[in-house]
This record gives sequence, C-alpha cells and structure tokens, in this order.
Amino acid sequence: MSTPTVERVLTVHHWNDTLFSFRTTRQAGLRFENGQFVMVGLAQAEGRPLLRAYSIASPNYAEYLEFFSIKVENGPLTSRLQHLQPGDEVLVGHKPTGTLTLHDLKPGKRVYLLSTGTGLAPFISLIQDPLIYERFQQVILVHGVRRVSDLAYASFIRDELPRNEYFGEAVRAQLLYYPTVTREEFPQRGRITAQIDNGQLSANLGLPPLDPADDRVMLCGSAAMLKDCRALLDARGFRVSRFIGDPGDYVIEHSFVDK
Ligand code: A2P
Repeated sequence: MSTPTVERVLTVHHWNDTLFSFRTTRQAGLRFENGQFVMVGLAQAEGRPLLRAYSIASPNYAEYLEFFSIKVENGPLTSRLQHLQPGDEVLVGHKPTGTLTLHDLKPGKRVYLLSTGTGLAPFISLIQDPLIYERFQQVILVHGVRRVSDLAYASFIRDELPRNEYFGEAVRAQLLYYPTVTREEFPQRGRITAQIDNGQLSANLGLPPLDPADDRVMLCGSAAMLKDCRALLDARGFRVSRFIGDPGDYVIEHSFVDK
C-alpha cells in the first residue's frame, strides 16, 4: 500500500464506554463517494503502521473526516485510538473504496439503510448526501444496538439534520429513523432481522413489507448480521450487487472489527 497521509485529530466524542467518534483534518486531494471506507491507523514504534478499514462517517463535501469506532480493551488498534486527543496524529490512506454507494443500487422508491453497531458509520455520511433524497422518495435508517447508550448520532439524526440549511426540508419529508435495542427497555425492541421477518419493522413504520419491486437496501454490520439479512432479502427475491459497478437491489459491507 502506498504511504498513508498524516492527519491531525480535530475533535473526539465519547458516546459511552464502548463507542467514540473522532474528526481529523482532510487533505484537499482526498476524493471519496459517500458510503466508502478508507484505511485509518497509527504509526508504530517499529515496523509498518497499524491500519484498519474505517467507513467515513462525514459527507464528501465536509472539510474534515469523521470516523465512528468501537473501543476494544485489547484491540491492537482501538485500545490506542480510544485515547486520541485533539492535535494527535492519525494516518489516513488515500484510496477510499467500498460497495455501499448509491450508484451500485438500482432505482427504486425507498432505500433501507440497515445497520448494527458501528455499521451506522457509512449511513451517517449517506444521509448527509442530498443525492439520496433525489434518488429515493423515502430513506429509512435502521440502527440496531444492544443498549440505549449505543444509539450514537441519535440526536444528530433527529434534531440537527432536519434543520440543515440546504437539505433539511428533504430530511424532514423523507428520512425515517428507526433505532432498535435488544438488551434494554426501549420503544422498539429486538433484532432487525426478527423485526423484518415478523413484519414489525414495516408495521411500525407504516410501510409495506420489503419488496424488490420498490425497495433497495444497504447493509452494514457484523458478519452474522449480514449473513442473516442476506438470507432474508434473498428469500424475498432481492438481488445483491456482486461487485463495484454492478447495480443490484442491495449492497453490503462489513463494519469494522478490531481483532
Ligand atoms: P443481540 O443483543 O441479540 O446480540 P454487536 O454489538 O454484537 O455487534 O450487536 C449489535 C446489535 O446487533 C445487537 O442489538 C445485536 O443483538 C444485533 N445482532 C447481533 N447479531 C445479529 C444478527 N445475526 N442479525 C441481526 N442482528 C444481530
């Protein structure tokens, strides 16, 4: 891999004991599509830098880059990243790529953005892309987490984004946010997969059941979540995008894991 760029940490936000986000400076020359990921990491005292794939949570018109990360106590990278402070150096690769992009989805009425945990990150970028509101009549952002405090970005999605001066009106009219929690009390409870399967998700949103004739889906979560969601979608006749440049009814990406 070509040498990554050195960026500076601008801000760090800790959501709870296991999740945090940070912003860094961005080279003017770094181009990416909303929904893509890039390698991010730290230099090591000896040897090659330690880099992992991170979805970019900021939109491609922002001057900064934002990343959403778990904190793993013994994780080689996140055990160090979680201690970042403004001014610290972070390495960012210069070849963003990935499959969660709008142009690999066929046209449709609605787009479902289904995420668990830090799989939310690429969708935070995409819901800030005015194009998603032009391409789809409705954008449904589903975030499945264990605990209520894991619902990172909830107030950004509910309170801030609808007030955006350029596309707030589209957000108010077209974006539906559906957080769901599995291990604590919350109005929406249960796994995304179970709620798709038993019809609860559509019923709660007042939408028809998932149908490849009208709906498109973007998936980002753990390997197990992706596998189960894919089985549900395939059974309903959805066709996956097999590679970048092959538009499908749905696209998938693994969320970052620090092992
Ligand atoms: P659960 O609490 O029942 O395991 P994690 O932090 O492990 O990535 O989980 C984030 C969220 O994703 C949790 O709510 C978890 O539910 C849920 N989850 C885990 N595995 C799956 C799966 N195979 N399909 C759908 N949701 C899942």
